[in-house]
Amino acid sequence: MTTSVLFVCLGNICRSPLAEAALRHAAAQAGLALIVDSAGTGDWHVGQAPDERAQAVALKNGVSIDHLQGRVVSVPDFRDFDHIIAMDNQNLTDLRTMAPNDSTAQLSLLMDHIDGRAGEDVIDPYYGQAEGFDQTWLEVTAAAQTLCRDLAAKR
Ligand code: 4NP
Repeated sequence: MTTSVLFVCLGNICRSPLAEAALRHAAAQAGLALIVDSAGTGDWHVGQAPDERAQAVALKNGVSIDHLQGRVVSVPDFRDFDHIIAMDNQNLTDLRTMAPNDSTAQLSLLMDHIDGRAGEDVIDPYYGQAEGFDQTWLEVTAAAQTLCRDLAAKR
């Protein structure tokens, strides 16, 4: 079965849509079939497109995320996805709290997939300047490369 990955942040309009785009892009380049999605722990932006600054940084790096729509993480996600990857420690705590007893998803932090940065948060760029989104893109891209390598090795 195709391996599936769900990225989770707070609003699902900044960090996790960028992680979704970065992994999709990296997997396509590597010829790796993956199911990739993203969701938020909060419901403020359900149905909305990603933040315009996130759209801009993705486009600048060759990926369009304009069509994505915010959604909240749900209990079935814990059975439907092989991996659920949180952007920060608060997201991970929230995911652990809502995980059903029969969850089969492997939970981790995005930064656990970057050498030397395990346990760190992807800083939320929402309240900052556009430069923060470039930093987010660098981090999600680095993690996407490692994830592709590791998931390809497990096939
Ligand atoms: P994200 O950033 O979790 O990276 O999507 C946020 C976006 C919106 C809000 C918080 C964080 N908000 O409170 O609306």
